[in-house]
Amino acid sequence: MEAKKASQSITIMTELVLPNDTNVFGNLMGGRLMYWMDIAAALSAQKHCNAPVVTASVDNISFENPIKLGNVVHIEAKVTRAFTSSMEIHMKVWGEDLTQQYKYKSNEAYYTFVALDPNRKPRVVPQLVTETEEEKKLFDGALRRRQLRLILGGKMKPDDAAELKALFVKD
Ligand SMILES: CC(C)(COP(=O)(O)OP(=O)(O)OC[C@H]1O[C@@H](n2cnc3c(N)ncnc32)[C@H](O)[C@@H]1OP(=O)(O)O)[C@@H](O)C(=O)NCCC(=O)NCCS
Repeated sequence: MEAKKASQSITIMTELVLPNDTNVFGNLMGGRLMYWMDIAAALSAQKHCNAPVVTASVDNISFENPIKLGNVVHIEAKVTRAFTSSMEIHMKVWGEDLTQQYKYKSNEAYYTFVALDPNRKPRVVPQLVTETEEEKKLFDGALRRRQLRLILGGKMKPDDAAELKALFVKD
């Protein structure tokens, strides 16, 4: 299976915040944003593996700035690393006020997707080739983030998280 470049998975989504997307303060609801992010990340993962995918986990999301009614939402998603059947996707989210010509960061997040075969079992995905410094940095950190989320998801024992332990325990 041929490896693919991170840049091949870039997915850019643009949405307009309409009244039905907002809370009582006139800001975009977090749940609606996470729904759009889920779709953007799934498309990015599918561009990488060219197979159906499911969301395996969503890391913590901190909403730095509310996105206002009538503003535009920009989501940029890219695969940071491919493991065996899973892929980590990094997303950056901005809001934009087109009338005031002002763009502001809303949040960043990591989602993990797993590619499935026709029997709905995890299937192998292509490895990822990094090109830019930022891609390399995200690729290197992905192993630690994966161990942390697998521990939190009850899929890995803390004692087996070699990468994480190396950060805290000296030989
Ligand atoms: C995600 C899912 C396919 C994993 O299946 P599984 O039978 O647990 O398979 P495995 O334990 O062999 O794990 C397969 C891959 O998923 C990854 N994975 C499993 N649970 C994970 C979690 N909580 N977070 C991140 N990755 C996870 C594993 O690390 C493994 O990755 P790798 O192949 O790259 O090493 C399965 O749990 C599932 O279908 N979940 C529901 C998905 C869904 O419906 N999503 C929408 C939410 S409503």
